[in-house]
Amino acid sequence: MSVNWSDYSLEQLRQYEISRFRKGAGSRPDVLLIEIEGQRAVLKDQSAADRWFAMLIGPLLSWRECKALARLSSVNCVPDLLARPCRRSFVMQYLDSEPITRAQRIEPVWPDFFERLTLAVDQIHKAGIAHNDLRNPTNILVTPAGEPVLVDLVAAFGRGANWNVLNRWIFGKFCQVDRSAITKLKTRVAPELLNHADVQAEQIAGRAGMALRSVGQAIRRLSRKLFTD
Ligand SMILES: Nc1ncnc2c1ncn2[C@@H]1O[C@H](COP(=O)(O)OP(=O)(O)OP(=O)(O)O)[C@@H](O)[C@H]1O
Ligand SMILES: [Mg+2]
Repeated sequence: MSVNWSDYSLEQLRQYEISRFRKGAGSRPDVLLIEIEGQRAVLKDQSAADRWFAMLIGPLLSWRECKALARLSSVNCVPDLLARPCRRSFVMQYLDSEPITRAQRIEPVWPDFFERLTLAVDQIHKAGIAHNDLRNPTNILVTPAGEPVLVDLVAAFGRGANWNVLNRWIFGKFCQVDRSAITKLKTRVAPELLNHADVQAEQIAGRAGMALRSVGQAIRRLSRKLFTD
């Protein structure tokens, strides 16, 4: 019988930790592998970040990620949302995999992997979600069968209604950013596969966009410093 993850409180779920993908600190959550009755899942818990960050921003981050996961429930390369024990945490399906640039037991066949990754990214865009943080390679995982898995949807951007022209424009740009992440990864692990169809980051928003990106990165660095003891 499959476990009903919603039957457990956050405290109870934390007791079933069998290993840890990431330890919470500063602006980072705990990401734990948990196992109940032989079934595994991943618990992402923002309350493990620094106190003020967890209190003020934690619920917002958790809500954003759950919203994107729910919208992608029919997409196989993204884990299913299984439960929300509180406003700062959620449980998702565990997909046996390794981060693509740190894979030790899995050896991807690069042409196949990039074909599948491109399909996976197209699929989430069709479902109305731009991931927006795929340029960080720890968010792209690979299964033993060589299938891509996309995690960490906290920065995801949803496509709005047809009349919302501004939203549609931004969504289009973020989809391009996701595609440029594929190019970035390819450049790193299999540069021989690069071709003219690959999207380069500099093409997306011109100089103004690159300047905005630098401002964004500076804000992110500053918030990490401020919220880290
Ligand atoms: N559903 C999942 N199935 C398997 N592994 C997962 C899953 N979710 C997360 N992981 C693992 O945990 C790691 C961290 O998860 P995630 O990226 O969501 O958290 P994070 O706080 O953003 O961490 P980071 O800053 O390292 O990206 C991933 O790189 C991956 O190795
Ligand atoms: Mg991540």
